[in-house]
Amino acid sequence: MRLTLRRPDDWHLHLRDGAALASVVRHTAWQFRRAIVMPNLKPPVTTTAAAAAYRERIRAALPAGSRFEPLMTLYLTDGTSPDEVKRARASGFVHAVKYYPAGATTNSDAGVQDLLKLHAVLATLEEIDLPLLVHGEVTDPAVDVFDREKVFIERVLASLVRRYPRLRLVFEHATTREAVDFVAAAGALVAATVTPQHLLLNRNALFRGGIRPHNYCLPVLKRERHREAVLAAATGGSAKFFLGTDSAPHAQSAKENDCGCAGVYSAHAAIELYAEAFDSVGKLDALEGFASVHGADFYRLPRNTDSITLIKEPWTPPGSYPFGDEVIVPFRANEPIAWRLAPEGG
Ligand code: DOR
Ligand code: ZN
Repeated sequence: MRLTLRRPDDWHLHLRDGAALASVVRHTAWQFRRAIVMPNLKPPVTTTAAAAAYRERIRAALPAGSRFEPLMTLYLTDGTSPDEVKRARASGFVHAVKYYPAGATTNSDAGVQDLLKLHAVLATLEEIDLPLLVHGEVTDPAVDVFDREKVFIERVLASLVRRYPRLRLVFEHATTREAVDFVAAAGALVAATVTPQHLLLNRNALFRGGIRPHNYCLPVLKRERHREAVLAAATGGSAKFFLGTDSAPHAQSAKENDCGCAGVYSAHAAIELYAEAFDSVGKLDALEGFASVHGADFYRLPRNTDSITLIKEPWTPPGSYPFGDEVIVPFRANEPIAWRLAPEGG
């Protein structure tokens, strides 16, 4: 069986920098035309000038002849000024600002202490119509790690969308029924991305036969009823839900560690994993909207005009890929994936 789709884009991606960037970007560039590139480098990408320089490094790392286009983001801090986000908007290559709660995840130390206090910047984003991308978790250590998304909606997000009704907002990597219900009920300016791992796995996958660091990401995998709700939202045809892998590479040594890093690497097989998830509920006909249409429309960018072809034919990712001087263990390493991307023209 073959499935031809408009070429997809990845609306949430971590590419890292330096040798790591050079190792991973080819995987994304082979599938996707564009990607929203996350700014959580060390140090984070907090200015338009830093985003311009990072964009050039990404372009220099692309395989020869690639038409891949990185779409840049700024990292929101307590010190971000309204002028900086105006500069970002005027640049034409910064497409959003990313909110990380301080301390929530990888390289988020410089993140925001209290989002609702950043009135001047939020009002400016609303005015200039630059989207805010939200890592929707609280970091309060008293809140159970599996409830952090739900509590964020109650404590922060509900007020945010009420106070800034014209703010374009993406709830990144939605993982719970509460998140997809909130987004579905909100106005048309509120959307969500969904990762492949949150469509395919529930939290049992963290403990299958022993602890599984390569299935650990943030927000963490949730119970089966949440996976089912997120899968129903992604495959339901609503323009509010679109593809964002959150592919987040960490070296094997940083994952298989006493304090392992959060992040699932899925760029090597992203569209194939989504095809598997949509196929599992008989919704392959909804894949193109989710992967190739809704995100472009939300970001007010042209839809891609070329196509890709997927073939229902199993293949098995290797145990690792090179990652700078180290290696990375990909999602589904040494385990078959039901769909594969046909070579160009295949
Ligand atoms: O699992 C994650 N990894 N979640 C994030 O929010 C950040 C990401 C990373 O950069 O490694
Ligand atoms: Zn991310």
